[in-house]
Amino acid sequence: MNETVTLIIDGEQVTVPEGTTLLEAARACGRDVPVICYHEATTSEGLCRICVVDVQGSRRLQPACVTPCQAGAQVETRSERVERTRRTLLEMLGAAVDLTHAPDLQAMSADYHADPERFPGAERREHPLHDDNPFYIRDYSQCVLCWRCVQVCGEDAQYTFALTLTGRGYDTAVSTAFDISMTESPCVFCGQCVGVCPTGALKPKIEYGLEQGWTPDMLRQNTRRRRSPKAAEEG
Ligand code: SF4
Ligand code: FES
Repeated sequence: MNETVTLIIDGEQVTVPEGTTLLEAARACGRDVPVICYHEATTSEGLCRICVVDVQGSRRLQPACVTPCQAGAQVETRSERVERTRRTLLEMLGAAVDLTHAPDLQAMSADYHADPERFPGAERREHPLHDDNPFYIRDYSQCVLCWRCVQVCGEDAQYTFALTLTGRGYDTAVSTAFDISMTESPCVFCGQCVGVCPTGALKPKIEYGLEQGWTPDMLRQNTRRRRSPKAAEEG
């Protein structure tokens, strides 16, 4: 028989199977805990910290997506300190990254009354647009470094390993190895990275073209599958 643990979430008693995370338990009882790096299809790494919750007796807030439920724990999902922390994280993100094409993050920012203008001197992440294949564009100026695309490209799904993290600290970015183009990389254009990206950093080429006002001819031209030189040689 599976062991269970019973804890209190926002004053409500909850019983869940052992190993359940605080995020899963909170969701099971209808609490809306925001997430950015967490995705059902990837391994949680607790990177973004937006899902933090208050566990009574714990000096630090705990990331709900990677913290297992403990029997008898008393958890608050929207305490004052949780709200303040989430607001600050969203403000820092909004100050550094272009979130124009991230409706979920915009809604989250509105919910927490985040004001990115509080960090007027913050350095904006600027990256050139990568338009190197017929299927999708990469605009890392809109990347929140959630790591989901790297995970699905790697051991969590595709085992292709076309994407990786480069740089350090503030200069950390997602890229192909040695920044080669997607067509030179091992990418098989499965589209899983685009599917899990929570912002406009990875976007289908057609969607991008429509946003840019491309004509049908331009759309056809820019999304046509180019044959590799090897395939062309082989006829
Ligand atoms: S490109 Fe998208 S999925 Fe990949 S790390 Fe950036 S925001 Fe996350
Ligand atoms: S969603 Fe939990 S740390 Fe990012």
